[in-house]
Amino acid sequence: MSIIKLAVLDGDGIGPEVVKQAIKVLNAVGQKFGHDFSYDYAPVGATAIDQTGEPLPDTTLELCKKSDAVLFGAIGHPRYDNDPSAKVRPEQGLLKLRRELGLYANLRPVAAYEELLHLSPLQTDRIKGVDMLIVRELTGGIYFGERGRSEDGNSAFDTCSYSRMEIERICKIAFREAAARRKKLHLVDKANVLESSRLWREVVRKMASEHPEIEVQYMFVDNAAMQLVLNPAQFDVIVTSNMFGDILSDTSSVLAGSLGLLPSSSIGSSVGMFEPIHGSAPDLVGQNKANPVATILSAAMLLDHLDLRDEAAAIRRAVNTTLASGVGTGDLRPEKKVGCTEMGDLIAGRV
Ligand code: IPM
Ligand code: MG
Repeated sequence: MSIIKLAVLDGDGIGPEVVKQAIKVLNAVGQKFGHDFSYDYAPVGATAIDQTGEPLPDTTLELCKKSDAVLFGAIGHPRYDNDPSAKVRPEQGLLKLRRELGLYANLRPVAAYEELLHLSPLQTDRIKGVDMLIVRELTGGIYFGERGRSEDGNSAFDTCSYSRMEIERICKIAFREAAARRKKLHLVDKANVLESSRLWREVVRKMASEHPEIEVQYMFVDNAAMQLVLNPAQFDVIVTSNMFGDILSDTSSVLAGSLGLLPSSSIGSSVGMFEPIHGSAPDLVGQNKANPVATILSAAMLLDHLDLRDEAAAIRRAVNTTLASGVGTGDLRPEKKVGCTEMGDLIAGRV
């Protein structure tokens, strides 16, 4: 029996509730396949600010570095959202974590479940067959560029800067993913305006010539936002910068019907981090209403990353059959509504 050491950063809001269900499912996987998972919890976000004054305490970061993987819940608290003068913010914890762990690639798969097509506000025939992967650069661009204010406070700036190396390493992952899928890759940028986007194109054009088996297309981000709603099934893999990826991944979540279904993985040089793409959902906290599926599927991505393919597949199968049976949390408007805990029980049971 092998021991798999997980750092658990369940964070704020519904984070702890949904993470608890993912751990239940991981334990079921452990039982079935003979793995032993160990879980070390550490604070991050608003919870960490309350306890230590910092959104990412050093002890939390150290724990992540010596773990096999990080399971992350959610971050954010309404107390900070409308206060532009707040000196520390929960989100800084997440950004620092990405930076310090070198998690430069964020993978966000989006698929429309056949049984849940009716949930999307988009017409069923438009979203049928949607199965795509957004590969978002995560440690560069405008999120991490130089920023500041003029002395009089009346102007402010944020810089979007990318090096060739940063673009190459994320695109390498995108080409690899495309090769393992339907072999289509869209670079989404704003090369008609931004110099940094023109560097992305230069890099991708060169890589495209070295990967003739991949069909590469180039799309401006404004058009991509429209195409994601008009004809989303045309996409296989999308690779894009930090900010564009942030925006487009929320847009594409509408295709799956609920933000509560979408997992993500953040990978890079060392340990990987796995988290649902939704936020802390303060309005749902403590009511057993949150949808744990996104976090449970993030745990499946975690297992895939540790090369435990059968284990990951077992989780996905359990999720699919559970959803297909017509049960779900309220956001899925299911035939039979259950709470967050019951949803976790059902999926763990099926594993
Ligand atoms: C995400 C989130 C974060 C981001 C926030 C919480 C800083 O929106 O993971 O998409 O902008 O990257
Ligand atoms: Mg976002």
